[in-house]
Amino acid sequence: MAMIAYKCPQYKVTVVDINPARIERWNSDDLPIYEPGLDEIVKATRGKNLFFNTDIEKALKEAEIIFVSVNTPTKTFGAGAGMAADLQYWEKTALQIRQYAGSHKIIVEKSTLPVKTALAMERILTSNENGIHFDVVSNPEFLAEGTAVKDLEDPDRVLIGSRQTPSGLKARQELVEIYANWVPRERIITSNIWSSELSKLVANAFLAQRISSINSISALCECTDADITEVARAVGLDSRVGDKFLNASIGFGGSCFKKDILNLVYLCRHYGLEQVADYWEGVVKINDFQKVRFVLNMLGAMFNTLAERRICLFGFAFKANTGDTRESPAIFIAERLLEEKAELVITDPEALNNAKIDLDGMNGKISYVEDPSKAAEGCDAIAVMTEWEIYRGLNYEEIYKSMCKPAFIFDGRNILDHNRLFEIGFNVFPLGKPHLTHF
Ligand code: UDX
Repeated sequence: MAMIAYKCPQYKVTVVDINPARIERWNSDDLPIYEPGLDEIVKATRGKNLFFNTDIEKALKEAEIIFVSVNTPTKTFGAGAGMAADLQYWEKTALQIRQYAGSHKIIVEKSTLPVKTALAMERILTSNENGIHFDVVSNPEFLAEGTAVKDLEDPDRVLIGSRQTPSGLKARQELVEIYANWVPRERIITSNIWSSELSKLVANAFLAQRISSINSISALCECTDADITEVARAVGLDSRVGDKFLNASIGFGGSCFKKDILNLVYLCRHYGLEQVADYWEGVVKINDFQKVRFVLNMLGAMFNTLAERRICLFGFAFKANTGDTRESPAIFIAERLLEEKAELVITDPEALNNAKIDLDGMNGKISYVEDPSKAAEGCDAIAVMTEWEIYRGLNYEEIYKSMCKPAFIFDGRNILDHNRLFEIGFNVFPLGKPHLTHF
C-alpha cells in the first residue's frame, strides 16, 4: 500500500488494522517491520496520501477499492488441521465489509488463499439485504521479504484475476490502471480469478521445490565428495533451469512456503488427487529432513555429544535482510540443540527480539549477543543459520583465538571462505561439500 501511495499521488490510501499498537508503530519513526527502503517510502507519503488508523468502519465506507491482506495461517484445529488455511480472519473481514460498505466496492484478495475463496467472499458479500453489488478480484502478492521494495517497484509480473462478467472485467481494469502508473503494461497480466488464486500457491510451491531439490542433492554430495555449489552451477547454467534460487541451505523458512504447499496438498487431497498431493508434500518432507540432517551432522562431527558444548548460532532470521523469524529453520535447529543439552549463544543483526520470543520457555541455557565476534567467544562451534553479509567479513583469526579448541564451523548457508577458515585452524563443515578437518 505504501508503494501504491508513493507511485500514485492521485489515490488516497488508508491502512486499517484491528491492532492499535501496530497502527501506532506505523505512525511512528519505528515501523513494526524491518524492510530495506520501506522507511523512506512511508516517510515520503505518510500524512499526504497514506494514512494508518484503526477506524475500520469509516475506511470501509469511504473506500472504493478494498485490499484485504489479513493473515491466513495454517489451521491448528478441526478438519484440515495442520494443512488447510485458517480463514476465520478472512471471513470476519468479509462480514465487516458487508456491514459497513454502504455502496459498491471492488474487493481485492491480497492474502494468499486457497482456490475458490473468492466464491466464499462473494457469497458472504452478496447475502446483504440492501442489494449492494461487490466485485471480488484476486491480486496475489509475489514480493519476497528483504527485497520487498525492489520487488514492488520492479516486479517480474503483476497478476490480476477476475470474473469474466462486464463488471468483473471493469473492476480488473481499475486495478490494472493503478499498477500501470509504474509497471510496464506487458508485465501486468490478467486471468480468470481461479487461475490467479492458484498461481500464487503454485509459484511458491515451485520455488520451494527448487530449494528442496538442491537440498536433497546436498545430502548426496556429502556422501559422494561431490560439491553442491559446483553441481548447482552446472545444472543452473542450462537456461531452461536457470541459476537463481539454487543455493543449498539448512532449509527454507518464512511465512509462505510451508503454509502454501500444505494448502496446495490439502486442496489436492480434497479433489482426490492423492499422487499429486504426495508429490508436493515431499517438498516439505525434504525440508524437514534437511534440518534434522544438519543437527545430526553437527552431533556426528562433535564426537556424538553436544551436552554442555557452547554453540553460537550466526543468524536467526529465516533469510538475510529481514528481522522475520517465522518458520525459520534456526528455531527448529536451536530446539534440537537444546534437547541435546547444548548451550546456545544467538546473534543476529535484526532478529534477536523475535528469537527471544520464539525460544521463550525453552529449557536450557540461551544467551543473546548482538556482536557476532563477541557471541562466538568461548564457544566450541559456530553454526551459520542466516546468510547475513556481515558474517563474511568478520576477523576469523581473532574469533578462532577466542574459541574453545577444537573449534568447529558448520556453514548452513555456504557463505564463508571454507579453505581460509580451515587454514586458520577451524574444522569446517560446509553444506553438501567435503569436510575440512584437522583430525
Ligand atoms: C517467498 C517468495 O519468494 C515470494 O515470491 C512470495 O511472495 C512469498 O514467499 P520469502 O518467503 O519472503 O518469499 O523469501 P524467499 O526469498 O523466497 O526465501 C524463502 C526461504 O528459502 C528462505 O528461508 C531462504 O533462505 C530460502 N532459500 C532461498 C534457500 O534456502 N535457497 C535459495 O536458493 C533461496
